[in-house]
Amino acid sequence: MSSDEQDRRKTLTVKKTARDAHAAADDTQRKRSGARARTASLIERAKDQAQRLRGEPASDPATSRDTAVRGRGKPGSRTSDEFRSPRRESGKPDTLRRQRRESAPPGEARPQRRDSAAPGESQQKRHESAAPDKFHERRRQAPEPDAFVDHDDFPAETEWVPEPDVQRRAPRALREAEIFEVFAPCPQGLEEALTAEMQALGFTDAQAGRAGCHFSTDWPGVQRANLYSRLATRILVQVAHEEISHEDDILDLAYSVPWERWFGAEHTLRVDTSAIKSPVQSLHYCNLRAKDGICDRLRDREGERPSIDTVRPDARVHLFLTGHTATLYLDTSGESLFKRGWRLDKGEAPLRENLAAGMLALAGWDPAAALLDPFCGSGTILIEAAWIALGVPAGISRPLGFERLRGHDPHRWHDLKDDARARILPGLDAPLVGYDLDPQAIEFARNNAERAWLTPDTIRFEVGDAREVPAPAERGWIVTNPPYGERLPADETELWRAWSANLKRSFAGWQLHVISSDRDLPQRLRLKPLRRTPLHNGALDCRLFGFELVAAGYRDPV
Ligand SMILES: C[S@@+](CC[C@H](N)C(=O)[O-])C[C@H]1O[C@@H](n2cnc3c(N)ncnc32)[C@H](O)[C@@H]1O
Repeated sequence: MSSDEQDRRKTLTVKKTARDAHAAADDTQRKRSGARARTASLIERAKDQAQRLRGEPASDPATSRDTAVRGRGKPGSRTSDEFRSPRRESGKPDTLRRQRRESAPPGEARPQRRDSAAPGESQQKRHESAAPDKFHERRRQAPEPDAFVDHDDFPAETEWVPEPDVQRRAPRALREAEIFEVFAPCPQGLEEALTAEMQALGFTDAQAGRAGCHFSTDWPGVQRANLYSRLATRILVQVAHEEISHEDDILDLAYSVPWERWFGAEHTLRVDTSAIKSPVQSLHYCNLRAKDGICDRLRDREGERPSIDTVRPDARVHLFLTGHTATLYLDTSGESLFKRGWRLDKGEAPLRENLAAGMLALAGWDPAAALLDPFCGSGTILIEAAWIALGVPAGISRPLGFERLRGHDPHRWHDLKDDARARILPGLDAPLVGYDLDPQAIEFARNNAERAWLTPDTIRFEVGDAREVPAPAERGWIVTNPPYGERLPADETELWRAWSANLKRSFAGWQLHVISSDRDLPQRLRLKPLRRTPLHNGALDCRLFGFELVAAGYRDPV
């Protein structure tokens, strides 16, 4: 495919997504205006959880049942080394990186912004990727130039459209006292829940944005957000924000950032670009401009530029374009935060872990209460619930992007994690139970739970039919993600009818929360939802339907 064709293809994708994004924004606004009380209660619940993480457990560990996290001893004792990611245990890569860092020039220099083109190869590169037109010229050519988002660059991981802070914060040397503007993207629909989570974690100025949340914090705060947030997809530190009038301004903007504080030629780099309501024609070209600016600067400062690795980069930078502004973010998370480090077996259409955690937050699940997922698949919702109830930090068992950056202090980071580990509870008070019709899904779920360091009795996974499963407690929550689309059986109507009959028969007093892209699901279940929360499951525009199951009153069709 020629680059022109690529651009055309992208533009088409972009326009479609923009409309979706607008619709989602409307949805979000509607939800927000009608959900103040729920936000307050989300904050309260998130605060409870944060209290637990700070060592003020909501439940008395002494009354807990068996130790739930493998390798743990008595209550309050430190988690054994088993809980650590084996990759971090070797120490070898860290040692190598430290040696390299020592020989690297200090990252505190504040060079002047470059006015002229860099020599040699970079000039050639600029020539190769030179944009022939200014924005206004391209605008005339573009069929629908006013609003677009391109997700092509982040197909799997980026559902976010950050709203950059209007004030540009000039990057300074990395000091503890330095406060960074942060954007934490999340799946659409979780903005309020994420904001509540961030506030509960101590980021008191957290504010919901579009598909994410803004807050400000110092570098240790950035690390804490990465370690503890269950709902964020990434933690992005804003390093530059400026009005631009031409794609080539992106090169100057990228050149102006002291990237050498964080990475250099010894690192590999990936740059991603997304946009909304930006007049630029080619996001690919903008991405190249940002990459060139970063690499030119590092070559000018340090004699060498980082090489590009789109698969497993050491450093990631995100360029976000909106209107006539460009914002650059340093990604401090590395791989998306929903990857907790335990999933190997995926099963059919697994939920992302941060969406599962978000569903539990929106459902108002009380971690001391029973939880059932009758369509559990690979066990995501229940494993996430177990970690919430035990106070296992979401990022404890995976590498994080900032660990590879210059200036990282592994000792302080290990102290922070050791402290977090010491607060993990030894056991759960209430049953967590999952059923699936498919024996292989149950095997996957058990394997995943084991890799999440959970003892086999923490979550009971069994082969079973949702239409017949019994209630594991008198009261509790059902939070679930039933099959949809092609995964539905041919006798779909029968599935919903029979499941509904079982809910009415055996689950009076329970709360039911179901994520589905099928807006007619309540009618199919012949249940009246108390709430319908718009929520995106990847590209699927879903609703989280909330029902209260009571003994009477559910016989009538909606
Ligand atoms: C969308 S998947 C759930 C994915 C799960 N949330 C995860 O993260 O892995 C739906 C699951 O429902 C299961 N299923 C379909 N019909 C069922 C039934 N009647 N009873 C129990 N499970 C059923 C399928 O085997 C499938 O694993």
